Amino acid sequence: MKLLIGYATKEGQTRTIARFLADRAVDEGHAVELLALRDASEIGLERFDAILLAAPIHVGHYPKALIKFVSDNAEKLNALPTRFISVSLVAAGHDADDWRSLDHILDDFREATGWQPKACKHVAGAYMPSEYDIFTRLIMKRIIAAKDPDADTGKDKEYTDWEDLGAWLDSWLD
Ligand SMILES: Cc1cc2nc3c(=O)[nH]c(=O)nc-3n(C[C@H](O)[C@H](O)[C@H](O)COP(=O)(O)O)c2cc1C
Repeated sequence: MKLLIGYATKEGQTRTIARFLADRAVDEGHAVELLALRDASEIGLERFDAILLAAPIHVGHYPKALIKFVSDNAEKLNALPTRFISVSLVAAGHDADDWRSLDHILDDFREATGWQPKACKHVAGAYMPSEYDIFTRLIMKRIIAAKDPDADTGKDKEYTDWEDLGAWLDSWLD
């Protein structure tokens, strides 16, 4: 199968996730093109058998690069088998209200762009103080201290469950 994996990222964790998925799909014998969505304006989607997009939530929203790409290509995307991975820190926790907010963000995104991926998956991202400016570091430090009291707030911490993510990809590509 010829698979396009497109991603948007701010601090890099979604790129790491997209690379992980691309490597795994290649290992399973698929042809994969990995693409940053900000560079994707000229891509011919008809060349692919399936498309997977991944993007993080920042302050309740997905990045503009994702929204533009999906809005511009909604019709073509809807004609193909597509999947969407939403990366966030809320997905690292178990709070029911927080999870409902993730679903609202996803619903608003689908409605605004017209894209109806065949399946969506919420994936836990990373806390990356090494990548934040001073202001963001202060805010994120408080959020992490409240949500994950065991975390060392001075250090980057990855919450992504690689095993679960790999199994999810396998079950799709099988
Ligand atoms: C400024 C900022 C705002 C964020 N806002 C949210 C949010 O609204 N909801 C959430 O679940 N995670 C939020 N996060 C966590 C990110 O989704 C998470 O760190 C993710 O791994 C970032 O992906 P990226 O490294 O690909 O940019 C935020 C992170 C930052 C730095």
